[in-house]
Amino acid sequence: RTVYVNGEYLPEDQAKVSVFDRGFLFADGVYEVTSVLGGKLIDFAGHAKRLQRSLDELQMANPVTEDELLEIHRELVRANGIEDGLVYLQITRGAADRDFAYPKEATPTIVLFTQAKPGLADSPLAKTGMKVISIEDQRWGRRDIKTVQLLYPSMGKMMAKAAGADDAWMVEDGHVTEGTSNNAYIVKGNTIVTRHLGTEILHGITRAAVLRFAREAQMVVEERPFTIEEAKAADEAFITSASAFVMPVVEMDGQPIGSGTPGRVTARLREIYLDEMR
Ligand code: PDD
Repeated sequence: RTVYVNGEYLPEDQAKVSVFDRGFLFADGVYEVTSVLGGKLIDFAGHAKRLQRSLDELQMANPVTEDELLEIHRELVRANGIEDGLVYLQITRGAADRDFAYPKEATPTIVLFTQAKPGLADSPLAKTGMKVISIEDQRWGRRDIKTVQLLYPSMGKMMAKAAGADDAWMVEDGHVTEGTSNNAYIVKGNTIVTRHLGTEILHGITRAAVLRFAREAQMVVEERPFTIEEAKAADEAFITSASAFVMPVVEMDGQPIGSGTPGRVTARLREIYLDEMR
């Protein structure tokens, strides 16, 4: 693979980052994942906007303009022949002698690479649906910033795997926040319920588009917290993310949700999202 690091396109085994990089030492960095379908970037503008917000929240400099970033994405998709897949982008505060305070002068480190995912939009899980478990949300309090601090979500994914499930929905003060790497929704009747935006969840780019399409299609959307009990009693459930688009959830803690098969509203939203975005 060709990867991008600090202004250069290099074979992956020649790309290097300092051992003093604060991304490595402090998880002092932010990231974005943008999907590619048929060679086309999906909602690049949304991801670029959120990247800037994450950087601003951490008082971190952006080493590239949005136009440059788009050009790097396109060049990597081209160089690596990506039809369907993902572009991963990471910006860290850069290398500096180890100290908790932000260094006065550090040059940000920027890294991008691609992952080929043939048939990304035709995942078998979209037909069968995902099984999730509920776990306590033990992440830090600024989940609206897309930092590379992902150890608890990784632990959650492992807990799900150990329980024979595909993912975990995290619960705080009795209410669902989100999935380990996606936003969470339930459907009751014709109403779609998902947690409101705040510091408790990541402001999903896919979430914003899906809710816009749902409202345009005259569906009812309620942005509020919901409980695991509500999820178990729902007619349907689903998740959204840049890599999964809209994906049905059919089981929660071993109990079927609704009919235990992907729901009608979920299937419609997935179809609308993919039709509109690709
Ligand atoms: N994850 N919530 C969390 C905690 C996430 O990590 C993600 C994205 C989302 C969905 O956001 P978006 O729709 O903008 O992808 C919600 C990415 C895909 C990842 O970490 O791979």
